[in-house]
Amino acid sequence: MRQVRIPAPVDVHVHLREPGYTHKEDITSGTQAAVAGGFTAVLDMPNTAPPTTTVATWEDKCRRAHRKAVCDVGFFVGAAVDQIPDEVARAAPRAVGLKVYLNDTFGPLRLNDLGLLQAYLIGWPGPGPVVVHAEGIMLAAVIGLVALTGTRVHVAHVSRREEIALIRAAKAKNLPITCEVTPHHLFLTQEDLPQLGARATVRPPLGTRADQRALWDHLPIIDCFATDHAPHTRAEKERTPPPPGMPGLETALPLLLTAVVEGRLTLADVIERVYTRPRRIFHLPPPPDTYTEVELGPTWTLDERALFTRAGWSPFTGFPLRARVRRTVIRGHVHFEEGHILAPPGSGQVLQPVCGDDRATLKGGQP
Ligand code: NCD
Ligand code: ZN
Repeated sequence: MRQVRIPAPVDVHVHLREPGYTHKEDITSGTQAAVAGGFTAVLDMPNTAPPTTTVATWEDKCRRAHRKAVCDVGFFVGAAVDQIPDEVARAAPRAVGLKVYLNDTFGPLRLNDLGLLQAYLIGWPGPGPVVVHAEGIMLAAVIGLVALTGTRVHVAHVSRREEIALIRAAKAKNLPITCEVTPHHLFLTQEDLPQLGARATVRPPLGTRADQRALWDHLPIIDCFATDHAPHTRAEKERTPPPPGMPGLETALPLLLTAVVEGRLTLADVIERVYTRPRRIFHLPPPPDTYTEVELGPTWTLDERALFTRAGWSPFTGFPLRARVRRTVIRGHVHFEEGHILAPPGSGQVLQPVCGDDRATLKGGQP
């Protein structure tokens, strides 16, 4: 048995579902799931109801987090067809980034207009990146626009062989592009569909074995591991068609550190992708005395009844895990220990990008 310490892990892709879908999750249950999974901070996506596409809706989320968050939370704003890029850009100094959806997924935020996409890319002043949901040909289009505009772009949940190869090529050309990969695309494939059924419905869909292998083979190209924690209730997943998305906050670090125990990743690989690069890409300096303790060793399997996510299920039930989160500490306070949440709602802080010298080191997509 071995205890390891991960400094201030942050999950840069989470759906806390508040406001609008709090039967799936809310800021308290989602951040409890985060600290139970070992994360000390999460970044929340804008596809709520109403969507976070204005300064007012962004500020509303911050007020809620001040009352309800159990870990630190940063909020994205989203690009919308019925919004003007200038209004969204007003949130740029305080929002962690701009999310642009270019493919179909859960919720109404989807941009399908080249002119508007260009206007958002040019109009976003940063310091946070523009985060794109861009699959397949859409990714090629985005990379073309990055080459023309120079806007810093972070590609969410890269899942296919051709996509990771495109990002490798873009980085080789020194374009300001970074990317993330989810644990479900690293640890599940289409071959798990018969067993998982509708629960496996997710955007982007689970890949083939060749896609999965390509992600593992391109580890140096992957900047972040991010969950895309997208909770839906069991009943919703049984409907036709099921909403896309699966919860992931409570399984990500156990899965990634199991890969460390098995020799497929090193501890440094994981720390680099849940701490160093995510915090650099999103300009989030780590708070003092903030870390997670994980025990590596005996095999265990998940008990869905012990989950804190309101979804109450996981695609990784039954997976043999060899890493377990023991304690999550934020600013010297124990927020989670041995299965229990020890911090009250409101103990998390709202994160905003803090710009220092690190901007220069992000040039060329090599944080
Ligand atoms: C996400 C959701 O449910 O909000 N679903 C998903 O399948 N990933 C939306 C998203 O991130 O695309
Ligand atoms: Zn998502």
